[in-house]
Amino acid sequence: MSTLGILASGRGSNCTAILRAQKEGRLRGRVALVLSDRPQAPVLDRAREFGVPARYLDPGRPGARLTPEAEDAYAAALGDAGVEWVALAGFMRIVGKRLLAAYSGRILNIHPSLLPAFPGLAAQKQALDYGVKVAGCTVHFVNEGVDTGPIVLQAAVPVLDGDTVEALEARILEREHVLYVDALNLVFSGRYRTDGRRVVPEPSEETS
Ligand code: GRF
Repeated sequence: MSTLGILASGRGSNCTAILRAQKEGRLRGRVALVLSDRPQAPVLDRAREFGVPARYLDPGRPGARLTPEAEDAYAAALGDAGVEWVALAGFMRIVGKRLLAAYSGRILNIHPSLLPAFPGLAAQKQALDYGVKVAGCTVHFVNEGVDTGPIVLQAAVPVLDGDTVEALEARILEREHVLYVDALNLVFSGRYRTDGRRVVPEPSEETS
């Protein structure tokens, strides 16, 4: 069974969805550790409620990146917990070279837009301001860019007339919770190949 570490900075609804899937036997893996760069992040309590070790780990500095030393500390904590795969779930930091190297091709992120549209912060507001009729969410592998890695799965969510940012956020979030579990199960199964930027699911034995 695959072992997962989750990095998160905030409320942790995606983390909770993953932990609920595990509890209900819908995750082909086990969450071994949750780490946060914010000491008061609600996600830490959510994880503990599921009996999963969760702790704050000093990011080393404010801003968008961890210090190189902090990256090493994150990689070491994940390694000590036996983590094979890492899921970013509202982790408000750009993952740098050292952590990427430690978990090469094994870090996933979820973003609340249909990438490559609307990368970065406030994606739902960007979508609403732009006037798109279809928004959505994306699970992708993490590379050195911001929301630029190969796409694992995407889901479309309608933008309704009269939507507020909050209403659109909530509709997308509900879809995120399902999509992240599906994407994790796909990578855990190993039944995919990568063809350049394209992540191609392979048929399972039952359907081939
Ligand atoms: C989600 O919208 C996710 O797509 C984005 O940050 C938000 C995290 O929400 N990367 P939560 O902490 O999982 O509730």
